[in-house]
Amino acid sequence: MTKGYIATLLIFPLISLILNPTSAQPASAPGPAGPTNITAILEKGGQFTTLLRLMNSTQEVDQINNQLNNSNSGVTIFAPTDNAFNSLPAGTLNSLTDQEKVSLIQFHVIPKYLSTSELGTVSNPVATQAGNSANGEFPLNVTASGQQVNISTGVVNATVDNTIHSDGQLVVYQVNQVLLPQSIFGAQSPATAPAPAEAKKDKSKPTSESPASSDDVDTTSNSATGPAIDQGMRVAFVGSFCLFAWGFL
Ligand SMILES: *[C@@H]1O[C@H](CO)[C@@H](O)[C@H](O)[C@H]1NC(C)=O
Ligand SMILES: *[C@@H]1O[C@H](CO)[C@@H](O)[C@H](O)[C@H]1NC(C)=O
Ligand SMILES: *[C@@H]1O[C@H](CO)[C@@H](O)[C@H](O)[C@H]1NC(C)=O
Ligand SMILES: *[C@@H]1O[C@H](CO)[C@@H](O)[C@H](O)[C@H]1NC(C)=O
Ligand SMILES: *[C@@H]1O[C@H](CO)[C@@H](O)[C@H](O)[C@H]1NC(C)=O
Ligand SMILES: *[C@@H]1O[C@H](CO)[C@@H](O)[C@H](O)[C@H]1NC(C)=O
Repeated sequence: MTKGYIATLLIFPLISLILNPTSAQPASAPGPAGPTNITAILEKGGQFTTLLRLMNSTQEVDQINNQLNNSNSGVTIFAPTDNAFNSLPAGTLNSLTDQEKVSLIQFHVIPKYLSTSELGTVSNPVATQAGNSANGEFPLNVTASGQQVNISTGVVNATVDNTIHSDGQLVVYQVNQVLLPQSIFGAQSPATAPAPAEAKKDKSKPTSESPASSDDVDTTSNSATGPAIDQGMRVAFVGSFCLFAWGFL
C-alpha cells in the first residue's frame, strides 16, 4: 500500500464528516422553554375554533399538556379545520354523547411525535389516544407517497394539508376532514348514516389514558435522540479508523 492510498483512506471519512454537518446539529431538546401551549398554537392557526372548543370541553387540552410535560415520546395532533367540521352532516356533533365527543377528539391525537417522514413509515393501524385500534373500534391508517399523506379511518379518507406546528415534541398537522372513527360512525359514509342511535348503547368506554402500545409505532426512530447517536457514532468511527490506518504507516 502506498502512503497516498492510506492518506486517502484517512481523509475520506474526515471529509464525509465535514460534508455532513446536518446530522451533527444538537439533539433537539424536549420542546422550547416553558410548556408548549396547544391552545395558543391552534388559536394562532385561525381556523380551528370548533376543534379548540371540543378539545377544551373534553379536557383533551389538559391531557395533551400533561402528556407533553410528563413523557418524552411527544404528541401528534391531526387538526381538522372549521371547514371540515362544517361539512359534517347537520347535527353530527350534537348527536354524540359526552363520552363519544371525548373519544372523537382523542382519535385525533397520537401519543407520539411523528415527523412528516415518520408519517410515511408508521405501521398501520396507528394507536391513538382513543384506544383500541382494531377494526370496528378506532383504527387509523396513515399512508404516504411522495409529499402526499392520506389518513383513512374506514369511514373517511382525509389528507394532511399543512404542518401547523412542529418542535420535536409536539407536531400539529392540518387535515381536511374530521377523522370519524368506526366505533362511533360505523363503516359507512357518515352522509348516509349520521351516528346511529342504537350503536351508542352498549359501547364500552374507551380508556382515556390508554398509552400507545409502543410496539405499534416503534418502527420509527425517536427523532429526539437520533442525531446525537449519529454524531457520536461518526466520531467514534472516524477515530477508530484513523487509529487503524495509523497502524499501517
Ligand atoms: C395558553 O394560551 C391561551 C390562549 O393564548 C391562554 O389563554 C392560556 O392561559 C395559555 N395557557 C398557559 C398554561 O399558558
Ligand atoms: C374551556 O372549558 C371550561 C370548562 O371545562 C370553560 O370554563 C372555559 O370557558 C372554556 N374555555 C374556552 C376558551 O372555551
Ligand atoms: C410538569 O411536570 C413537573 C414535574 O414533572 C411539575 O412539577 C409541573 O407542575 C408540571 N407542569 C404542568 C403544567 O403540568
Ligand atoms: C391519497 O388520496 C388521494 C385522493 O384523495 C389519492 O389520489 C392518492 O393516490 C392517495 N395517496 C396515497 C398515498 O394513498
Ligand atoms: C389499516 O391497515 C391495516 C393493515 O394494512 C388493514 O388491515 C386495515 O384494514 C386498514 N384499516 C383501515 C380502516 O383502512
Ligand atoms: C377511501 O379510499 C379507499 C381506497 O382508496 C376507497 O376504497 C374507499 O371507498 C374510500 N372511502 C371513502 C369513505 O371515501
